[in-house]
Amino acid sequence: MKAKKITITSVICLFFLCMYFVSCKKTAFTTPPVDPQGDPVLPSTQYDYASKHNVNSSYATLGRVLFYDKKLSVNDGVACASCHQQQFAFANNTRFDRGFDGKFLGRNSPSIQGFRGFGNFASGDVTPTQNNQAKVLLFWDGRQSNLSDMVMNPVMNHKEMNMPGFSELNEKLKSASYYRQLFINAFGDETISQDRIALALEAFVCCLNTKTVSASNPIVNTIPTLSEVVTLEDMGKFLFHTKYNCAQCHDQQRNQNALPPGSTPVTEPQPYSTPPAPEPGKPSNAMFNIGLDQISIDKGLGNLTGAAGDVGLFKVPTLQNIAFTAPYMHDGRFATLDEVLEHYSHNIKSNVNLSPKFKDFDGSPKSLNILPAEKTAIIAFLKTLKDDDFLTSPMYSDPFKK
Ligand code: HEC
Ligand code: HEC
Repeated sequence: MKAKKITITSVICLFFLCMYFVSCKKTAFTTPPVDPQGDPVLPSTQYDYASKHNVNSSYATLGRVLFYDKKLSVNDGVACASCHQQQFAFANNTRFDRGFDGKFLGRNSPSIQGFRGFGNFASGDVTPTQNNQAKVLLFWDGRQSNLSDMVMNPVMNHKEMNMPGFSELNEKLKSASYYRQLFINAFGDETISQDRIALALEAFVCCLNTKTVSASNPIVNTIPTLSEVVTLEDMGKFLFHTKYNCAQCHDQQRNQNALPPGSTPVTEPQPYSTPPAPEPGKPSNAMFNIGLDQISIDKGLGNLTGAAGDVGLFKVPTLQNIAFTAPYMHDGRFATLDEVLEHYSHNIKSNVNLSPKFKDFDGSPKSLNILPAEKTAIIAFLKTLKDDDFLTSPMYSDPFKK
């Protein structure tokens, strides 16, 4: 019961954790509350999240409204979707987003996709257990690895942020007429509670899975040999996996291991996703310093552990739908994929924690010297890692859109 309580508050707490980055200072709100959203428009027959994502459709329907509803912020200024937008694979196209008080966040809004195995929402058993929870790295610095961890310090954070308490949030949602029926559909009665809000949001977030599909590249899940290379995309995939071995970090298969033995995945494995969180005591295969700066401004993992060797380490982001999630890196410093490849090609900086994968024999930073034609091929390949349905399907879209 305790575990359940903890886990089902996770998504809402995620929100508060995100908002923590908006401002660490107590700030008076200068903008008056506004709610330009109106009521959501929902399909007469609810979308079938259950068969597609093995998630209870009524939870996900409610979760979708919550995800897009600015009422979740203290001054009706932002929704989850303000920073996590569908057209950008639930990332955003700005370097830093502004929070509810108009202040810039310290990190680039990452895409939300590929969270799976958090619970068996379809059967009504919504309690994530050790056996059905995937260990994933959350946030750029991987400071959360599962939903239970995620809720360790939310209340503290929300106090620091001057956010209203959950009871105020419940009252606020009660005053919006459209929630009554959504809560009845999902839970059998109209009671609005923190647990229910969190559960619904979590259900929706768990639907944000994507599968790599590619019309242009017939070789989707196998790595072509040079003799099999036909298209530019194939060539890019070949280079990605062989000559430049990007896959040693951006691995396509390893995420399957995110599920503990014996558990049944609730969705299919997602290639090119963030590798799973490491086992305790084992080195991470998911967090690296890629030599963006000589001195890391944002300490990343080092902020959490305090260890000098962790400074400037960030998680390996998913490459799913990568063409839509620009700008790139934890601080959104690169506007295009071309700039990213230019970094790997010529600009890897010497940093005390630079990954050995980017060091020459004498310890100096490597220049991969990716040729222009190779760059074009790698970018063409990266652009095949997209899922049009995910980017456009009304199932994940804004119900408040007029
Ligand atoms: C004002 C912008 C903003 C809002 C609003 C916001 N987020 Fe975020 N979100 C971020 C940023 C920035 C990060 C990365 C923070 C970091 O790594 O330190 C993030 C990280 C995340 C992550 C981790 C993704 C990953 O792959 O590591 C999830 C999941 C998430 N947010 C879900 C939500 C949900 C659900 C809501 C609404 C309840 C929400 N966010 C509201 C900006 C926002
Ligand atoms: C040593 C591990 C490692 C290798 C090898 C590596 N990457 Fe990365 N990659 C990372 C990490 C870690 C990040 C995030 C760094 C940050 O934000 O500070 C990243 C970020 C990226 C991003 C931006 C993703 C986003 O959402 O912002 C792209 C694109 C990318 N890498 C492509 C490549 C390509 C192409 C190669 C091969 C030429 C490659 N990577 C090789 C670890 C690696």
